[in-house]
Amino acid sequence: MRQGFAIDLLGQLQAVAAGVTIELESALEARRVTAAGERLGLTPRVAIRVNPDFDLKGAGMRMGGGAQQFGVDAEQVPALLADLAGRGLDVLGFHIFAGSQNLRSDQICETQRRTVELALRLAPGLRDGIRYLNLGGGFGIPYFDRDQPLDLAPIGENLGRLLTEQIRPALGSAKVAIELGRYLAGDAGLYVTRIVDRKVSRGKTFLVVDGGLHHQLAASGNFGQVIRRNFPVALAHRVDAEPAETASVVGCLCTPLDLLADEAALPAAQVGDLVVVFLAGAYGLTASPTAFLGHPAPPEILL
Ligand SMILES: Cc1ncc(COP(=O)(O)O)c(C=O)c1O
Repeated sequence: MRQGFAIDLLGQLQAVAAGVTIELESALEARRVTAAGERLGLTPRVAIRVNPDFDLKGAGMRMGGGAQQFGVDAEQVPALLADLAGRGLDVLGFHIFAGSQNLRSDQICETQRRTVELALRLAPGLRDGIRYLNLGGGFGIPYFDRDQPLDLAPIGENLGRLLTEQIRPALGSAKVAIELGRYLAGDAGLYVTRIVDRKVSRGKTFLVVDGGLHHQLAASGNFGQVIRRNFPVALAHRVDAEPAETASVVGCLCTPLDLLADEAALPAAQVGDLVVVFLAGAYGLTASPTAFLGHPAPPEILL
């Protein structure tokens, strides 16, 4: 009875594993996945993450083009595919992710065109052709004052054209994906922290809060910004009130880097008020050094 259950469970695990596509970052990963497949008695479904031979112009964070820790350089992919042939992997296609946080739809369209072009160039190396193509993401969100929201319409049109004119004729019913992070999650999250002190130092007003960069590294600018700029902030309960003062919102850590808003225009704030940081749903708590100074982790509440 027990043995039957174990066999059943193994069968289910294998079924689950067989439905998963693993995106490989290197030749060594390919060898590891091959070995895991042999151990489990299945043929892993994989795609190769390709470091393209171009980058996403205007991206806040470049993750492709030039020398990168991500993926396999485009020019090395044919040799890798030749090496993997007959090695017990089902290579479905490619994942090409060039960069993140771009607000220029023309540049995203250009990257997607070049991504498809590159994938079609690499396609002959795949025994069964491309059955899966991940075009990456890069869709930015307007964090800062002068940022304009991304115009999705030209991106949709461009993707439609790429699908009908290039992808479907060359790749038939291949599964095509885009992979978005902050565009989906960013404005779904608010970070709320309480003012515990208010002080004026040589003419500059500081609102000290009970949170800080250990909860919201990105808003402090230390997750990576060329020039530090403020995320949108407001006082809860006075979101619509006119600004009455210029104040810097600082966290409770022992570093001047712990700055959530620098000289922000806010309604007059008092101890006990709540400061809200918007666009905190992506690269928020999980991208922050929560253990720094040993403060308790903040609750995350799903509404
Ligand atoms: C492979 C991959 N896909 C998608 C994303 C999400 O990027 P974004 O938040 O810019 O949409 C990332 C972010 O680092 C990534 O590394």
